[in-house]
Amino acid sequence: MIAGKNILLGITGGIAAYKIASLTRLLVKSGASVKVIMTKDACNFIAPLTLSVLSGNPVYSQFTNQSDGTWNNHVELGLWADLFVVAPCTANTLAKLAHGQSDNLLTTTYLSCKTQVMIAPAMDLDMWKHLAVKNNIEKLKLFGNKILMPDSGPLASGLEGEGRLQEPEKIYSEIEYFFSSKLDLKNKKVLITAGPTREYIDAVRYISNASSGKMGFAIATCFVNRGAEVTVIAGPMDEAIKNNSCTIIDVVSAHEMMNSFKLNFKDSDIVVCSAAVADYTVKNPIKNKIKKVDNNLQIALEPTQDILLYAGKNKTKNQRIIGFALETDNEIENAQKKLKSKNADMIVLNSLNDKGAGFEGNTNKVTFIHKGNKIKKLELMEKSLLGQEIVNEIVKLINPKL
Ligand code: CTP
Repeated sequence: MIAGKNILLGITGGIAAYKIASLTRLLVKSGASVKVIMTKDACNFIAPLTLSVLSGNPVYSQFTNQSDGTWNNHVELGLWADLFVVAPCTANTLAKLAHGQSDNLLTTTYLSCKTQVMIAPAMDLDMWKHLAVKNNIEKLKLFGNKILMPDSGPLASGLEGEGRLQEPEKIYSEIEYFFSSKLDLKNKKVLITAGPTREYIDAVRYISNASSGKMGFAIATCFVNRGAEVTVIAGPMDEAIKNNSCTIIDVVSAHEMMNSFKLNFKDSDIVVCSAAVADYTVKNPIKNKIKKVDNNLQIALEPTQDILLYAGKNKTKNQRIIGFALETDNEIENAQKKLKSKNADMIVLNSLNDKGAGFEGNTNKVTFIHKGNKIKKLELMEKSLLGQEIVNEIVKLINPKL
């Protein structure tokens, strides 16, 4: 499976030099083309010449080659790769990748890279436990990167605990799995609505909600990883949450979301309405800022169009429509009503009564509501994992034998 693939190895730090050499050797032996990018610090731990000999290719560490002044094109490197593996990844590089910094060839290539990136962190146990590192890991997962969690054992500091780079054989088998896992949704087009909408009252104020868009993009990432062509219609949200492997249509209001949805709906095989769309919009928004003069200010609202309802009414035999429901009471009953009234194929129910579930955090707890009163409750889990569960359940709607 690995034979013939182009694998880009990014090396940062590098106390585990023997593991890096061994991984390079394993990949080359299995028939992959391997190119190596090293940070300046990594070159202090392991000689680029060693990896150049092992990989059979020049090792890249700077934007220009000192000897002949030629440019190492990071875009070309990113496009060349079928897979980019950063191993070991130091806490410093982890932070740079999570925040989009591009101050060396490796981090710049990461930003240009269109393929799957695997990141194998390695650091001391206290660094690994730090909230800043944990947050960066969460961010990188949301971007669709695969994290190869560090092992436990003796560390370079002499301490013992979690933070060791995974063994090369283990990283190799993750790579093997990546190339062998089937891209079973390769010919499917998926349309997802995500995040909140904003309904402007005047030039500076709006009505909205706390939806982050994380759940919608976690689902989008899982579809992308299974080969689907994914379009996300995204309400206003943090750029860091978005996955640029999808086609992203940025919108602000419910009206704009509906217009973009109508344009993309017909071509889609699978539609997931995860956005927290405003049910009401401002009837007569004011162009300028409203001044504080009226003691009895009233804002007239009017209903927005229901996107999920539109999808349910207009769906064809081959389309599958999935909605979300956020409920505070009579959850199952209300979600079952939504399934029916909006003619959806499945509803993913969030209950605000469940601790750790809902809009803003990194975890969620949901129940799948199917036709015929069939329900399936899931445990509380990370949104990225839940994305996989939701996609698996949707795939079963297409192929019930799975
Ligand atoms: N939805 C939509 N367009 C709207 C409102 C809701 O597409 N204008 C979709 C949501 O994306 C979600 C589902 O409808 O998939 C249910 O949304 P929710 O806010 O839970 O319920 P509502 O239908 O708005 O009903 P209510 O607010 O009364 O619970």
